[in-house]
Amino acid sequence: MTFDEARALFPVLERIAYLNAGTFGPLPRPVAEAMTAGIAHDLAEGRTGLPYFEETIAARDELRGAFAALVHAEREQVALTSSTSEGCAIVLRGLGLEAGDEIVTTTDEHFGLLGPIGASGATVVVVPPDPECILAAVTPRTKLVATSQVLWTTGAVLPLSDLRERTGVPVLADGAQSVGAIPATAQGVDFLTISGQKWLCGPDATGALVVGDPERLATVSPSYFAQTRYEPDGSFEPHASARRFDTGWWAPGVLRGMLAAIALRPDWAHERAAEAASRCRMLLEGRVELLTPPVPATLVAFRPEEEPAAVVERLHAAGVHVRELPGRGIVRASCGWWTSDDDLDRLVAALG
Ligand SMILES: Cc1ncc(COP(=O)(O)O)c(C=O)c1O
Repeated sequence: MTFDEARALFPVLERIAYLNAGTFGPLPRPVAEAMTAGIAHDLAEGRTGLPYFEETIAARDELRGAFAALVHAEREQVALTSSTSEGCAIVLRGLGLEAGDEIVTTTDEHFGLLGPIGASGATVVVVPPDPECILAAVTPRTKLVATSQVLWTTGAVLPLSDLRERTGVPVLADGAQSVGAIPATAQGVDFLTISGQKWLCGPDATGALVVGDPERLATVSPSYFAQTRYEPDGSFEPHASARRFDTGWWAPGVLRGMLAAIALRPDWAHERAAEAASRCRMLLEGRVELLTPPVPATLVAFRPEEEPAAVVERLHAAGVHVRELPGRGIVRASCGWWTSDDDLDRLVAALG
């Protein structure tokens, strides 16, 4: 697939310099078509019959395999969720943490991870997002290091497998800004969350959780998929794989849409996204206060002189879509494998 062919998959790019995949990726036409076909089928044929269920279950397993292949995991380690936030909650609840246990996290996490951390009942130790600070905060009471692979604030990358190795403490990696954006891996961490709707350009409310060893996490919110057999009192035999953590049904069109999104990614996706981010950073250097380190992931963040919300609104009016990070005074541009030089030139021109 050439770059022009790739761009043509996204009708929205004809008009908009779409620099907000960190929130939602642009929707590719084949994904929309798969979703629409699913709805059309359900409308005409109904949501019933054994083949309907068997095909849907088979598509779920195919999707597990597709997510697993993206992050060097096994299909059996993948649960289907609705989001990164839900994946984080599954891990934090399933670890059964208690008062006196400690979780180390950073000042730069999204509430999707922080909320479940805060609700866990453990003591939360918050440090700057610096590997040495994280290491220094680990004590014999630390039960989990929970942080992003790529920070949603600055786009900095944290070496999580290295931290896992040096501390020996289980690591929950929030993959919302890494999977699909950079060559992210589940290797070397215990848990990795995936958001389907961001860098993978899948349907809304899609995601996955990779659990290295499903036996080491309790199934505290079982859905129907969790079990292979259950008793009248609700006790159950958990599914052998991470399927035990699946959170619920996905419409067949959504499953097919997510599969289409993963299948259409060109093999040059990471390389091209990295180039676009580097170019974006270079173009902005000297014009605004850059917060993104010299080698960016795919997020480029800056602190504008004007009020950030006003900047975002002004850019929006010019057809350049970036976002503000509320309360942090930050504007953030997301560069994907679909981002053109022209998109970035439009960003710079609109900034003035
Ligand atoms: C680092 C990070 N974690 C979690 C989330 C929440 O992701 P989701 O909407 O998939 O729960 C986001 C969304 O922006 C994020 O940037």
